[in-house]
Amino acid sequence: MLAIALLLAGCGDAAYAPSTLSPQGFGAARIADLWWFLLALGGAVFIAVMVYLAIALFRPRKPGDNAKNQRNGSRVILFAGIIAPAIILFVVFGFTVSTLNAISTPSISREFTIHVVAQQWWWEVRYPYQQIETANEIHIPAGEPVRFLLSSEDVIHSFWVPELQGKLDMVPGKTHELWLQADQPGVYIGQCAEFCGIQHAKMRFIIVAEPPEEFERWVAEQRQPASEPSESLALRGQQVFLSSTCINCHAVAGTNATGDLGPDLTHLASRRTLAAATIANNRGNLGGWIADPQHIKPGAFMPPTPLTGPELQALLAYLATLK
Ligand code: CUA
Repeated sequence: MLAIALLLAGCGDAAYAPSTLSPQGFGAARIADLWWFLLALGGAVFIAVMVYLAIALFRPRKPGDNAKNQRNGSRVILFAGIIAPAIILFVVFGFTVSTLNAISTPSISREFTIHVVAQQWWWEVRYPYQQIETANEIHIPAGEPVRFLLSSEDVIHSFWVPELQGKLDMVPGKTHELWLQADQPGVYIGQCAEFCGIQHAKMRFIIVAEPPEEFERWVAEQRQPASEPSESLALRGQQVFLSSTCINCHAVAGTNATGDLGPDLTHLASRRTLAAATIANNRGNLGGWIADPQHIKPGAFMPPTPLTGPELQALLAYLATLK
């Protein structure tokens, strides 16, 4: 067990493998407390049993032991087999119930409600109060409890930000409610936690927790329609975009691209990642993604877009203006 633990410890890259044991929010912290308590309790029971077993195995035998052992045996069964486990289970039950109680939903102001719709294999993110829509990158104010309404368009997914809160399933036809809070500003990785098809592992998102005034600034920017390109290359790219198959699935507010099968691209260039938070949002990755999404996420529902080199360059120049 020790060898396995040491081997696995080498696997994680902290930036990409967030741990429930480094909680950064109230909910995750209470859950981690419970985890450490259970580990300590389970460890203590394990050590007690091992010590008792060692005594029984290695104690020198004496004449008359058998009758004495029989008397002791029934006492051992009563204490170690019934009374002690009952007390331990009662304590575990109590701690679990008090943890559940501590992480039950606090009162949350109406404007901090975010609706997340899971789809194979990305996250549609809507802010009903602020009237904005984005994808795979969820901005929240730090230090505030935020309510998430979680649903799914196709199969069962699961919403999980290990450092901030426990996970919750997203079931088609239902809306589940979860709240979380990031105590400090920062970027926290979320991951789909329910196997949902071939690209389940690459169904990630990020939570960007910001100081309240920065969050407000982000909201104000996201509420703007897409900026009109001014450069000639970007203008040509806009024509490429609007005359391609892109607009069947993607929307850019203020243009006649109104598709809603894929992520809204109105503020694509403001996002840090592409392909459900699996690659960085830069020109090279975006070009590769448009030309051949199947190379990056085999099975993804975005088809390759056949474009000539100059068309792709123009399209990338246009997409870079969607700040
Ligand atoms: Cu969505 Cu796994």
